[in-house]
Parts: sequence; structure tokens; C-alpha cells
Amino acid sequence: MKLEDLSTGPLAKYGAAGAVTAISLLLLRRWIAGGVCRSKARLEGKTVLITGANTGIGKETARDLAGRGARVVIACRDLAKAEQAAAEIRSTTGNGNVAVRWLDLASLSSVRQFSREFNEREERLDILINNAGIRCPWQGTAHPPRKVY
Ligand SMILES: NC(=O)c1ccc[n+]([C@@H]2O[C@H](COP(=O)([O-])OP(=O)(O)OC[C@H]3O[C@@H](n4cnc5c(N)ncnc54)[C@H](OP(=O)(O)O)[C@@H]3O)[C@@H](O)[C@H]2O)c1
Repeated sequence: MKLEDLSTGPLAKYGAAGAVTAISLLLLRRWIAGGVCRSKARLEGKTVLITGANTGIGKETARDLAGRGARVVIACRDLAKAEQAAAEIRSTTGNGNVAVRWLDLASLSSVRQFSREFNEREERLDILINNAGIRCPWQGTAHPPRKVY
């Protein structure tokens, strides 16, 4: 076999196709995963409101922001789960300034009640993170009955 056969033969073509596919899959995976915030900016004196922070991405975001010194209000529909998450965030970050409020986004009356109470009780809002949600919309809102998108 000649040297030029190695660079133009079927093995080289399959190798190149494999490499292109692997790189494309890697890029696609990174694109789907989205960006990562690596900021270490301190947030003392700032108030953060984050919905659905008793679990998942919301909870880890709340933990990061509490760790950076912010007052963090987590707005959740299940108060027991929310209190448990808040206690865990307080103990892992050493920031006791983590508050729990009830909010069920499937009910507009709950949203109104939450907003009223938030305005009454909090002096400021610096960062709002609309995290709560679902990817498969088979649940409906309570008042009036509608689909959640
Ligand atoms: N994970 C991913 O790969 C991914 C990718 C792209 C986008 N997202 C989006 O990122 C967000 C968080 O994702 P995740 O994976 O962390 O989800 P998750 O673990 O399922 O957490 C969703 C949070 O939203 C809350 N929630 C759902 N419906 C609510 C309602 N009606 N009122 C109040 N809270 C409600 C849940 O409360 P309960 O615990 O009471 O159910 C839970 O705390 C979602 O909006 C999701 O669509 C996620």
C-alpha cells in the first residue's frame, strides 16, 4: 500500500466522518446544556426572588446566590418541601437570610396574593428568577381552568 492510499482510502474517509460526527455531537450536547454562570460577585444587600426553588435547578441557583450573600426568597407551592430546602440552603451556605413564601403558579389568585404580600413584606427586589415550570404541559391552571404552557 502506498502512502497516499492511507490519506485517501476508505479508512481515512470513515475516520474523518467519525471525527466530524463526534465533534458535532459534543457541540450539540454543550448547546443543549446551555451556559453556566461562574460569577463570584458578592450580593450582600440584594434581594433575590426565585420560584420553584425547593428542588432541581431552582434550589441549586438559590444555594449559589445565598452563598454569595443575597437575601433569597424562595416561592414554592409545597411549603413543607420548601422549608426543608431552605433549611438545607441555610446550613450549607451559612446564610440564614433565606425566606420561604407560598406561591402556586397554576392559580392566578395565589399569584396575586403572593405579589401583595411580597410588596408588603420586602423592601426591594433586585433579582427575579422565573424558574418554576414544567416541560410537559399536561397540568392545568386552577382559576380559570386553562392549560399550562
Ligand atoms: N432540567 C433541564 O434539563 C431543563 C432544561 C431546560 C429548561 N429547564 C427548565 O428549568 C426549570 C427548572 O427545571 P428543573 O429540572 O429544575 O425542574 P424540577 O426539578 O421539576 O423543578 C421544578 C420546580 O418548579 C416547581 N413548580 C412546578 N409547577 C409549579 C407551580 N404551579 N407553582 C409553583 N411551583 C411550581 C416545582 O415544585 P414541586 O416540587 O412542588 O413540584 C419545582 O420546585 C423549568 O422551568 C424547566 O422547564 C430545565
